[in-house]
Amino acid sequence: MAGVFQAVRVSKHVYWVGAIDWALRDFHGYSTARGTSYNAYLVVADKIALIDTVRAPFRDEMIARIRSVVDPERIDVIVSNHAEMDHSACLPHMVELARPERVLASAKGVDALRQHLRLDGDIEAVKDGDRVSLGEAELEFAMTPMVHWPESMVTYLPTDRVLFSQDGFGMHLASGQRFADELDKDLVWHETTKYFANILMPFSRQIVKLLERVGQLQPTPEIVATDHGPIWRKDLQAVIDRYAEWAEQRPTTKAVVVYDTMWGSTAKIAGAIAEGLIDGGASAKVMPLSGSNRSDVATEVLEAGALLVGSPTINSNIFPTVADVMTYLKGLKPQNLIGAAFGSYGWGGEAVKHIDELLGAMKVERVADPVRCKYVPDEDALSACRSLGSAVAARLRQSCEASSVVSHTTGQ
Ligand code: FEO
Repeated sequence: MAGVFQAVRVSKHVYWVGAIDWALRDFHGYSTARGTSYNAYLVVADKIALIDTVRAPFRDEMIARIRSVVDPERIDVIVSNHAEMDHSACLPHMVELARPERVLASAKGVDALRQHLRLDGDIEAVKDGDRVSLGEAELEFAMTPMVHWPESMVTYLPTDRVLFSQDGFGMHLASGQRFADELDKDLVWHETTKYFANILMPFSRQIVKLLERVGQLQPTPEIVATDHGPIWRKDLQAVIDRYAEWAEQRPTTKAVVVYDTMWGSTAKIAGAIAEGLIDGGASAKVMPLSGSNRSDVATEVLEAGALLVGSPTINSNIFPTVADVMTYLKGLKPQNLIGAAFGSYGWGGEAVKHIDELLGAMKVERVADPVRCKYVPDEDALSACRSLGSAVAARLRQSCEASSVVSHTTGQ
């Protein structure tokens, strides 16, 4: 009788032998409303290789899927593309179980694995361009540092044109389908965008290098097998193009208005700013933090040209939810944004000044002085907020026009 957990065939030599985490709802601060998967892969040629492993609680599921293809003790080579524990935690057990001839990682990966897992045995460092024969198939390694850890690398299987891209091109999505083209397109693009925004946005320069390196692989990859979510086998160029666009973070006419409110005044200001944005020809994504997670805000900011942040003052400071999202966004280093701070206050009104400083630290170009309204904004105050929205919209349109002129004149 077939076991509960079965491998899924990806290509002639490759099987998916990962695990599905249907229950995960938070991945170090990133809200994973649809769970995730931890993808490990088996390459079955004359020799057998395991590429990455899974998060510790899912070890038995991975081993059962491997066993549905081969006895795990037959694994000859284990490759660790990424030392983060959601992919490396089961490595010591797999080394003990399989006693492979070789365990391979990047030079920094060797250190990271030793420091994380206290592995005693030999781990060999591979360099960019190194190849390891599995007999009728061969693995090729490419270094992709800071996508998104220092030791990150990818592994290519030219015979099958399968790229094992670790976190790159991934998404947090638990599903019964193993391939992106079997899923709803909007869902796939939403989760792909969210993953880039929350995990890869700070490393946009390294993403450009990743794309260059992937472009050098011969023959060109046809399948991208990531460490999270479904595998790409169609729409490959589309996801590569989207990564190139996101890495560039060109200005758009979208403005994100994020705020929280105590008694409704900051919400009124946000609403008035949004009216001005829309009236001025921008699109406004208004995100009250009572109903928006920090990682959803980051997702919207990825494709935005403006960020406007509002908070009431509480105990001389920023509202806690706003402080949370600002700390999170600052770490993600969004580029090329304009913006402004706003909020209501009763006496001190310090929150708006603090937000303005945080926007400055994020290199957001402030297009207006911070807007502060005492207690409840009156009609004049709301009208000024609407004007702020219109001014931001005008700047966004101007930046987009200038950017399209540059593209046109340089033929890009
Ligand atoms: Fe999925 Fe960076 O670990």
